[in-house]
Amino acid sequence: MKRRLQNRLALLSLIALVTMALLPAACGEPESVAMPSEERSDDDSVARTGEQIFAMTCASCHGSEGEGADNWTERGADGRLPPPPLNGDGHTWHHSDGVLYGIVSDGGLGLGFGSNMPAFKDQLTREQIIAVLEYVKSLWEGKQRDGIALLQYQQDSSAADPYPADE
Ligand code: HEC
Repeated sequence: MKRRLQNRLALLSLIALVTMALLPAACGEPESVAMPSEERSDDDSVARTGEQIFAMTCASCHGSEGEGADNWTERGADGRLPPPPLNGDGHTWHHSDGVLYGIVSDGGLGLGFGSNMPAFKDQLTREQIIAVLEYVKSLWEGKQRDGIALLQYQQDSSAADPYPADE
């Protein structure tokens, strides 16, 4: 009887040891940025990651709510435009995913126009650029201009010009 108890205790502590040894391996996987297979503006997890990137990287110029500079249509002394609103009040929704990606990745100068929009390709990964743009697009939810739903319009124009493929 006593021996059986001892065996059982030994077995229990063995199980405990093995579990402890395995747990860190299971939890220690590096966390990757969660990206669903379909990149859609109505996906909340993408928007949240994008929201954080926006707050850290874009809000200083485009405003914490993406409202842009007050005088965004008037060129400054350097002949360049101030940061426009990205929240749907401007014309950002006219740009397809491919164009938006190019603006953030290469900046205004990279696309060949005198601009104070920086290039972010050395700072943000493809996934992060897409995430921040999906967040920007989530700000257009329910917004219309002249009877046109901004999200729908932008989605239609992106069909022919999507985000660049993953290489
Ligand atoms: C240093 C200030 C600055 C920062 C930081 C910045 N932008 Fe801009 N952005 C600008 C300016 C200025 C323009 C207007 C460029 C022009 O038309 O010449 C612009 C333009 C844009 C446009 C085009 C908008 C339109 O309606 O055509 C997009 C999209 C954009 N920015 C996204 C972003 C995102 C996303 C981030 C963060 C990853 C970001 N920007 C960070 C200054 C900035």
